[in-house]
Amino acid sequence: MLRTHTCGELRIEHINENVTLAGWVRKSRDLGGMTFVDLRDRYGITQLVFNMETNAELCKKARALGREYVIQIKGSVAERSNKNKNIPTGEIEILVEEIKILNQSKTPPFTIEDDTDGGEELRMKYRYLDLRRDVNRKNLALRHKMSIETRKYMNDQGFMEIETPVLIKSTPEGARDFVVPSRMSPNQFYALPQSPQTFKQLLMVAGYDRYFQIVKCFRDEDLRADRQPEFTQIDCEMSFVEQEDVLNAFEGLAGHLFRVVKGVEVGEFKRMPYADAMKYYGSDKPDLRFGMPFSELNDLTQNKGFVVFDSAELVVGINAPGCAEYTRKELDKLTDFVKKPQIGAKGLVYVKCNEDGSFKSSVDKFYTQEDLKAWAERMEAKPGDLMLILAGDTDHTRKALCELRLEMGSRLNLRDPEKFAPLWVVDFPLLEWDEDSQRFYAMHHPFTSPKPEDEALLETDPGKVRANAYDMVINGVEIGGGSIRIHDKELQKKMFKALGFTDEEAQEQFGFLLNAFEYGAPPHGGVAFGFDRWCALFGGQDSIRDFIAFPKNNSGRDVMIDSPASISDLQLEELFLEMKQVKE
Ligand code: AMO
Repeated sequence: MLRTHTCGELRIEHINENVTLAGWVRKSRDLGGMTFVDLRDRYGITQLVFNMETNAELCKKARALGREYVIQIKGSVAERSNKNKNIPTGEIEILVEEIKILNQSKTPPFTIEDDTDGGEELRMKYRYLDLRRDVNRKNLALRHKMSIETRKYMNDQGFMEIETPVLIKSTPEGARDFVVPSRMSPNQFYALPQSPQTFKQLLMVAGYDRYFQIVKCFRDEDLRADRQPEFTQIDCEMSFVEQEDVLNAFEGLAGHLFRVVKGVEVGEFKRMPYADAMKYYGSDKPDLRFGMPFSELNDLTQNKGFVVFDSAELVVGINAPGCAEYTRKELDKLTDFVKKPQIGAKGLVYVKCNEDGSFKSSVDKFYTQEDLKAWAERMEAKPGDLMLILAGDTDHTRKALCELRLEMGSRLNLRDPEKFAPLWVVDFPLLEWDEDSQRFYAMHHPFTSPKPEDEALLETDPGKVRANAYDMVINGVEIGGGSIRIHDKELQKKMFKALGFTDEEAQEQFGFLLNAFEYGAPPHGGVAFGFDRWCALFGGQDSIRDFIAFPKNNSGRDVMIDSPASISDLQLEELFLEMKQVKE
């Protein structure tokens, strides 16, 4: 070994020991007769000391070290006179007797510190340097712990980790597939899995009973902070279960991860029907770290001469506690916020609940104090509070008010990243109507079973059918989703029919699954968690990129290896592909 200890290991009890360390030069400082070098590795930082008086030659050598040089030193551990309480090795330093340069380094293009001067694009290009930064190391260590603890827990619960293939077949549902041309089958393509959904169901048919896998999934969709084209799922499936069994099993996993990784007990998860989540929070992933539920006000606000409310499908508001003091300027800012094109509200109505019990609103012309009092009662607003109200068509208005609620939550510091509010959203609709293509799509995926009591509606009123589907939501993030599956061939056929597939198309696309259902498919269900999202949530961040060692940028590119890239003419020829001119 080139070292006796790591750079994070030595403490006061090692004083006077002779040690050998190896690592990277983080920085060096010359203080008159002394030179101090911070030596860094994955485990920490140790201070090295060189003394001009006792060993001028060695000290000169130390002064010549560049940032990020890889060195090996031998020396003895000494107690520091100037202790650094911020690092675990801060009580000691090494009086260096020998130094060996193991490798030189060019000056890095940005400082390798938590607070770096490197922009995102530059850090991505030199990701291996970015990963030397402590913040990233901590994020990857968290991810490692999460995956180890997941495996431990799932193993203890009798789940078997089984790998499923990565070269599969393109299917028409869901996001766009990434495809891979086949050399051996001309003009045919594999697709990379968007999830192992059908394979895990086949594993249930095969009798594996409890499966899980920490697995890469691929989706060619527009990217956001919480989406990457390749991401990781904790994918799970169980046989002979009903919805409650699955929810309980994975509440167990979540509880375990919260306990061992975050040191918190989250207790039992709330269960909220999808319809309530939409009605009270305007979202299927409500952030329940704070209240401010929606109150619908149509009956109290309409037919009083205010045409904006009268013509609206929905009039709905939230109560912002303690915000009656907001100035005109602050209220204008909120109005600008809801009018942003991404949010799209036409305007914002406010009502201040004054301390003396009176009200001041932006619609005083139309409403009496009595009217406003009735709104306040509905919204449980107290003196000192501010009611914020939007109106319009139901979907857009709920969406806009959801954004406003989150904005108010942030302004009022109610969205503490170290507080956790997990829940299951249940009873999702089975299908959603798409205006553009004039057809139903599966809200979750085509293998999700309808609630038995709604099954008959599948042929008469498909939009009304509720699914045995659920999402795990924590702090407004969809951490995972799953369902009880259809295991009956006839029901699966009906589902494909509702989705607009002919029998032939269903057979062509999903024949392997329909056929498998003829050989004793057990009742089964499962869930998949977005592993990157879960890591980011536990790490207190919004962007999953910081928890992936080598992520893609917002255009889906890896700027370090410069991918995607063109391939040679020979490769194209072998794959029976032709390049097409792309119009700029
Ligand atoms: P779903 O499509 O809901 O379900 O995906 C499960 C979870 O994966 C995460 N996720 C993503 N994370 C990062 N980047 C992405 N592009 C991305 N897309 C999804 C989310 C999501 O909740 N087979 C079903 C699960 C099942 O029914 O068992 C599935 O894939 O956190």
